[in-house]
Amino acid sequence: MPTTVVVGAQWGDEGKGKIVDLMCAHVDIVARYQGGANAGHTVVIEGKKTILHLIPSGILQKDCVCILGAGMVIDPAKLLEEIDNLEKGGVSVVGRLFISHQAHLIMPYHKVLDELNERDLGSKAIGVTGRGIGPAYTDKYTRVGIRIVDLLDPELFREKLDANITAKNRLINELHHEPVIDRDAILNYYLDFDRRIDPLVKDVSVYLNDALDQGKTVLCEGAQGTLLDIDWGTYPYVTSSHPTAGGAVIGLGIGPTRIDTVVGVIKAYTTRVGSGPFPTEFDQPLADQMREAGGEFGATTGRARRCGWFDAVIARYSTRVNGVGSWALTKLDVLSVLPNIKICVAYEAGGKRFEQFPSESKVIKDCVPVYEEWPGWSKPINDARRVEDLPIEARRYIERIEELTARPVGIISVGSDRNETIIRN
Ligand code: GDP
Ligand code: IMO
Ligand code: MG
Repeated sequence: MPTTVVVGAQWGDEGKGKIVDLMCAHVDIVARYQGGANAGHTVVIEGKKTILHLIPSGILQKDCVCILGAGMVIDPAKLLEEIDNLEKGGVSVVGRLFISHQAHLIMPYHKVLDELNERDLGSKAIGVTGRGIGPAYTDKYTRVGIRIVDLLDPELFREKLDANITAKNRLINELHHEPVIDRDAILNYYLDFDRRIDPLVKDVSVYLNDALDQGKTVLCEGAQGTLLDIDWGTYPYVTSSHPTAGGAVIGLGIGPTRIDTVVGVIKAYTTRVGSGPFPTEFDQPLADQMREAGGEFGATTGRARRCGWFDAVIARYSTRVNGVGSWALTKLDVLSVLPNIKICVAYEAGGKRFEQFPSESKVIKDCVPVYEEWPGWSKPINDARRVEDLPIEARRYIERIEELTARPVGIISVGSDRNETIIRN
């Protein structure tokens, strides 16, 4: 398919990095369309782990061109660190990494404000990653944000920075009594950054549309997940961008008619980091057991992830809001530790049955899952490379997910490594 969107179907960390890397063996260009260094996408190749925060997960496929889209918010320090780490590890980004001139910059005051906003929220804190994401998108939408293109005109950059610093220092210092941010250090650092990235800056919309006209294949990589979307997620416990598939067209400047298919990445169970409702969340001791079995600790912050059963209400919701055509089902191997496995097929709340995911966080909070219970397979499956290699119980589990979502599972991941995968189509 010429243009595919790969989207997280739950609350992020579904294994998008692994799936995108794998799929990029067959695409010309991979483009991240939203988010920033709040993402942590893990790729493991022959035991060697790489965690990507800003750079698309196709960078380890040496012929794949990687794009940072206009919908992203870019932290210069994180980007340079990531480029340097890749180069040190023998992965060259030269000539195949490009950044949209329209992407917004994360500034040091965004990170400070991210922490202060959380502090103000007290017990209602979102549990943000602290990467400055919310404040950077706030500036974008209140039209005071600073973009990559602004760096190209140092006078304009200085002007915008001065206006922002004055306003932000008022908040930081006068309201929160925290030390003021130093303007000159920022100015010098960002102008230095500009000198380094200048050759990488592109009009990404022009580039991608031309490439599609020439018959090239493009994979649009989503960060976070559907339930963290600012409109379609469990608001307010969400991120500040559009991880859903629609975000790809906005974030990359390609029209909706250019998208051919959407692959939803979905974990064989559910996880979430940070606060907010989570109907199928495990109780103890299962919560700890599954966190250990699945290595469920954040790739960005190291925080323990909350874990729960597979939720078909959420999977159906993701199918609907993203137009998912097929699934990449990940971490099936982790369920090998369980004698029996539950799938949530609906919710009940206030005497009502919900087949569709409710849109209000406070309704979701009161939802009690309706479960089916399926026998587990209780043996390792990491060596399976064809569906027929899987125990019958695992195959039934996959079939049930397909029935409940009316979508086929095209990729089954049975381990973190690139080759621990079953590809059906
Ligand atoms: P992303 O944010 O969606 O890219 O996912 P993360 O990288 O944050 O988290 C997924 C974690 O699961 C990473 O540690 C991956 O290496 C790991 N992983 C991915 N697929 C599988 C799988 O099929 N089995 C196991 N055991 N681990 C996996
Ligand atoms: P990837 O791309 C999981 C969560 C945070 C918090 C909320 C808002 O690796 O799947 P933010 O810093 O974005 O303002 O935090 O969103 N969150 C993620 N959870 N995976 C991610 O990215 C996430 N990025 C943000 O934990 O609850
Ligand atoms: Mg992640």
